Amino acid sequence: MSSNPEPSYLSASSSGPSEYDGSGDEPSTMLLSLRGISKNFGPVQAIQGVNLDVPAGKVTALIGDNGAGKSVLIKTISGIWEPSAGHIYWKGDEIHVHTPRDATDLGIATVYQDLALCDNLDIVQNMYLGREETKFAMLDEIKMELSTNQLLKDLSVSTVKSVRQLVASLSGGQRQAVAVARAVMRDSQLVIMDEPTAALGVSQTHQVLQLIRTLSSRGIAVLVISHNLNDVFGVADRIAVMHLGTLCSSGPISNYDSQSAVELITTGHSSRVPSTLVASP
Ligand SMILES: Nc1ncnc2c1ncn2[C@@H]1O[C@H](COP(=O)(O)OP(=O)(O)OP(=O)(O)O)[C@@H](O)[C@H]1O
Ligand SMILES: [Mg+2]
Repeated sequence: MSSNPEPSYLSASSSGPSEYDGSGDEPSTMLLSLRGISKNFGPVQAIQGVNLDVPAGKVTALIGDNGAGKSVLIKTISGIWEPSAGHIYWKGDEIHVHTPRDATDLGIATVYQDLALCDNLDIVQNMYLGREETKFAMLDEIKMELSTNQLLKDLSVSTVKSVRQLVASLSGGQRQAVAVARAVMRDSQLVIMDEPTAALGVSQTHQVLQLIRTLSSRGIAVLVISHNLNDVFGVADRIAVMHLGTLCSSGPISNYDSQSAVELITTGHSSRVPSTLVASP
């Protein structure tokens, strides 16, 4: 990969969607919009009637208590589960995401908490696992190594000493960075992360939050699940709160503070938040 021009997976959209007013009425202006999404597992209603808008180039934090339905919701976006009811819109057009491959092809990359990296392989091998570059029927190691170096540089990941290091020797934050880099390698326009900082220390958390800001500054939408409100208020542009399987409030972060966020997480209501941001099921 050449260092110039800017790689396509990081290019900002010039005609990004307009700012959302919280009413949830305009799916066409959003990168991703969910309307009335429900998911049952037999008699268990995991999520119900979720309306959520995710704009390009913004960080949306998805918060809520254990079992609120956050992971199930992102799995319906990333093709793990098909919703039992509801509609998903991508750039205003309705889509049907049947498999993870469908999501990847659209430009939706998901980084799960268990990361699925191979400890016994180095960073380059992990980045290209299953999609290796070849030249004259041989692995093109030089191309893959240069591309990996360039990608980590583009993402401002500076703490990795060598891309030939085994993943087993990386810190939690560095592993998270490799997983994100792997996810955005293919023209991703939306990166979904399920609790990316849950197992990390202070400085590693800082690195991952920086990486999230780098993605959004390049025009990529980020949807991140977090239980850490400090992280949420440090990195997010928007908040979406789930409570008992429903999305109880969502909108620009300026409308929330940690007290209202805690109230919404624990009770599903807060008098401190404008009623326009309360999503109706
Ligand atoms: N495969 C499944 N089969 C049956 N029920 C499920 C399944 N996956 C999730 N659920 C149920 O759906 C509900 C929401 O679970 P989910 O994993 O989305 O919670 P969460 O908000 O991600 O919680 P946490 O913060 O603990 O990760 C829970 O009641 C859970 O038991
Ligand atoms: Mg979860």
